[in-house]
Amino acid sequence: MWPGRLPPTREQLLARVTNIDGLLCMLTDEIDAALLDHAPLLTVISNYAVGYDNVDVAAATARGIRVGNTPDVLTDATADLTFALLLAIARKLPQEFVAVREGRWLPWEPGHNLGADVHGQTLGLLGFGRIGQAVAKRASGFDMRVLHSDSRSDQTAINELLATSDFVSLHTPLTPQTHHLIDAAALARMKPSAFLINTARGGIVDQVALAEALHNRTIAGAALDVTDPEPLAAADSLLKAPNVIVVPHIGSATTRTRERMADLAVDNLIAGLDGKQLPHQVCLPGSSPPTLR
Ligand code: DGY
Repeated sequence: MWPGRLPPTREQLLARVTNIDGLLCMLTDEIDAALLDHAPLLTVISNYAVGYDNVDVAAATARGIRVGNTPDVLTDATADLTFALLLAIARKLPQEFVAVREGRWLPWEPGHNLGADVHGQTLGLLGFGRIGQAVAKRASGFDMRVLHSDSRSDQTAINELLATSDFVSLHTPLTPQTHHLIDAAALARMKPSAFLINTARGGIVDQVALAEALHNRTIAGAALDVTDPEPLAAADSLLKAPNVIVVPHIGSATTRTRERMADLAVDNLIAGLDGKQLPHQVCLPGSSPPTLR
C-alpha cells in the first residue's frame, strides 16, 4: 500500500514493483515496458480507472500480464459532469458567481450577463462509446440535436461535426491516433460561437492551440475536466484565457462511483492473483488475452 499523499515518484514505483505479483495502480502511475522489466513476478495490473493510456497494454500482454480497468460504473457520473460543464460554460456560471461574491451584482438589465442557449442547440460528440452515449441521453432532455463520430470516422465526417456543432464534447480514449485530435486546424473549423468540452483525456487537445483560439476568440469557450499535464500549473496561459473553466479531473468523483470503481479494481486484482479471467480485462483491438506467465 502506497502511504504517500502524492503519487509515488518513478523511482519509488520502480523500487517497489520488483517483488510483487499484482499491482493496483492509478492513472497517475506510468506503467511502461521499462517498469514491467523491473517486475518479473507481476501477473496482473489493475488500473483504478476506465481509461488505461497510462499502461502499456501491448508490453504487458507480451509479458503474459493481464490488465484490468473499471468500465461502466463511472459512465453516468462522467456524463453528469460533462453536462454540468456544458451548462456552466454556456451560462458563464463561474464568472457570475465570482461577480456576486465580489460585490459586482449590478441591477437586472436586458443586456447584462448574457450567455448562450443550450436547449435546441447542436451537440457534436467525438467518441460515441458508453460515456458519449450517456451524454447524448442527457442532451435529448434539452432538445439538442446530437451528432457523433469517432477517431475512426473519415475526416470529412469529423470536419462536418466540428463545423456544425454549437458544443463539441470529447469522449474518445487517448491513443496515438487521438493525440491532439483537436489541434489548431480542428479548432479553426469550429464556429466562433462554439464551445469545447473535454472530460476524456487532456492529450486529445493541443492545449497551446486551444489557449490561442480562446485568446483570439476563434471559439467561444472551453470547459475542461482534464488537461495535459495534470495538475495544470496555476500560471499556465490556458487559465488566463477568456471564458475557460478547468476543474481537476473530477469526472468520476462522486463517493458512490469511486467506491464502485474500487470494488471493480479489487475484483480484477484478486481474480488476476487467483489466475482467473479478470471481470473487466482490457484487450487490445484485434489481439487475444495474454499467454500467462
Ligand atoms: C477514468 O476512469 O479513466 C477517469 O478518467 C478517472 O475517473
